[in-house]
Amino acid sequence: MILRTEPAPAPLSGDLTPPGDKSISHRALIFGCLAAGESRIRGLLDSEDIRATAEACRQLGMTARQEDGELVLQGVGEAGLHQPAAPLDMGNSGTAMRLLAGVLAAQDFDSELIGDASLSRRPMRRIVQPLERMGARIDTAEGGTPPLRIRGNPRLRGIEYDSPIASAQVKSCLLLAGLYATGHTSVREPLKSRDHTERMLPAFGVNLRGDCGVRGGSRLKGASVQVPADISSASFFLVAAAMVPGSDLLLREVGLNETRDGILHVLRAMGADLTVHNRRQFGGEEAADLRVRYAGRLEGVDIPPERVPALIDELPVVLALAAVAEGTTRVRGAAELRVKESDRLAVMGRGLSALGVRLREYDDGMDVEGGAIAGGRVDGAGDHRCAMSFAVLGQVADKAVTIDGAANVDTSYPGFVSDLRSTGGRVAVAEDG
Ligand code: S3P
Repeated sequence: MILRTEPAPAPLSGDLTPPGDKSISHRALIFGCLAAGESRIRGLLDSEDIRATAEACRQLGMTARQEDGELVLQGVGEAGLHQPAAPLDMGNSGTAMRLLAGVLAAQDFDSELIGDASLSRRPMRRIVQPLERMGARIDTAEGGTPPLRIRGNPRLRGIEYDSPIASAQVKSCLLLAGLYATGHTSVREPLKSRDHTERMLPAFGVNLRGDCGVRGGSRLKGASVQVPADISSASFFLVAAAMVPGSDLLLREVGLNETRDGILHVLRAMGADLTVHNRRQFGGEEAADLRVRYAGRLEGVDIPPERVPALIDELPVVLALAAVAEGTTRVRGAAELRVKESDRLAVMGRGLSALGVRLREYDDGMDVEGGAIAGGRVDGAGDHRCAMSFAVLGQVADKAVTIDGAANVDTSYPGFVSDLRSTGGRVAVAEDG
């Protein structure tokens, strides 16, 4: 798919509820699959990544039906997973692959996890090595990438794992494996990554040990989950309104988990007018309505390594925002961006440069100098967040911007184009497929 933007002719306005949180949606499905009995999920994200997880759970024995706007799941119970008849295809989703690998490593059957071209390049040793310490047997392709061929071992041993990276996928993978292992499994990380797993497990009847540990043999039971809107999807609109003169947008029901809200701190530090209304609980997660109003030209900021985990997925759109802020924005400690759905530092660096932005790329970050945005052609490189970031930046470019490689927008935000148009933004699908 190719997207084409034109400069927004007028302020962006209106209100919208971004789609459900992707991280929470994956977990709700996987936990619901493992739980004994019925679970109900309201607000589940309907996107390609989540469909991959739902389909895998179905192949493992879960059944699901829609009822009164909720997805009603019948879980199999931890010991009740079925051996899938074919490799489980995780599509573009690293979260689906890494979390399910933790579950499948502990089964009494073999299985295989595969993915698309992007996922097939992503590093899996970060989960394979600690899982092997627990007794798992997993073969990867050369280079430690998918496919994962898992020879199930129902006798895993719990470990205390000191993770070298702040990764919620690693952490969640090991906690899920730990539910089946003997003894306790706990994970420490250098900086705190998103904690949706720790927040959701108690709702499914699993008590944590300490901040981030589980006891082997803990059983999940069915639960109700209400999924807030995804702050990562909301961010494209927070940034768009902060950029386009005169804008005023209201984004409803946005998840405000403090391990995810770094974008709000950055926007405020840059001088954006952002207010939080109607805070409420969505199960173990906080949500609120966010109002963002254009407040004049923003200022560049420093984003040091300790800030990165709470806005890791928002960094592409932050780099786009930096391109129109006064002065220089410096991001450091973000080497993880190189192993996401694309090498996001390289993809954003190339695209911003093509639009006339002055920047300097580092191994673990970037300096971006704010200025005028020329029109032109950029490559989203099949990465949903990069493509959407360029589409937002296109709203304040001098001329049209063409974005190649934008098809994967559907992995997290299928309604993005129509939502941006509904606020007055100028974006169109120039070519499908
Ligand atoms: C996710 C964790 C993060 C994030 C990804 C979703 C999750 O990845 O970038 O989009 O749902 O656990 P890492 O765990 O690799 O940091």
